[in-house]
Amino acid sequence: MIELIQSRRSIRSYSDKKVRDEDLDQIVQCGVMAPSGMNTQGIEFCVITNELVLKELEDLAGRPFFYQAPALIVVYGEKDNRYAAYDGSCAMTQMQLAACALNLGSCWINQMKDYVLEEKFDAVMTRLGLKDKVIVGSLAVGYGMEGPKEKQIKENRIHYVK
Ligand SMILES: Cc1cc2nc3c(=O)[nH]c(=O)nc-3n(C[C@H](O)[C@H](O)[C@H](O)COP(=O)(O)O)c2cc1C
Repeated sequence: MIELIQSRRSIRSYSDKKVRDEDLDQIVQCGVMAPSGMNTQGIEFCVITNELVLKELEDLAGRPFFYQAPALIVVYGEKDNRYAAYDGSCAMTQMQLAACALNLGSCWINQMKDYVLEEKFDAVMTRLGLKDKVIVGSLAVGYGMEGPKEKQIKENRIHYVK
């Protein structure tokens, strides 16, 4: 587990090979298992693999904001869920690690949370059941085309009080 955490990296280049439904399901189940404030379990997941929908999102955005990954998992909650950001972030992290454990690449994609507020996305967001929700983030998932990357870690961020 510790090695897995240390080896995970954001992946921004994907092959067009589809992710198996079983793998996607395992990844989302790991999101579902994440901790939540007061165990409210208020976070939901929209797993998009439909090519037409993915293309529609990309076309509306005008750029390949999820790096043409074959799957995008949107993590969202109700607008009045005060734990949504925390709970959704826990779920995102667990799903990133699960993807890594399954030798799949993933990357947190921020833009969906802004696009849900934009009028031009109204129709697609409504069809996805996301229109009146707060989107915490979304996770691009697929077979990475990048090798392992070095990560520079800023120093002096850990403070021990013994
Ligand atoms: C809240 C949050 C939002 C992020 N949004 C994006 C994004 O929209 N696009 C992207 O390519 N990466 C995004 N990332 C990934 C970060 O850029 C990445 O985690 C960081 O550069 C460290 O690299 P690593 O994940 O490989 O360790 C986001 C990460 C977090 C935690």
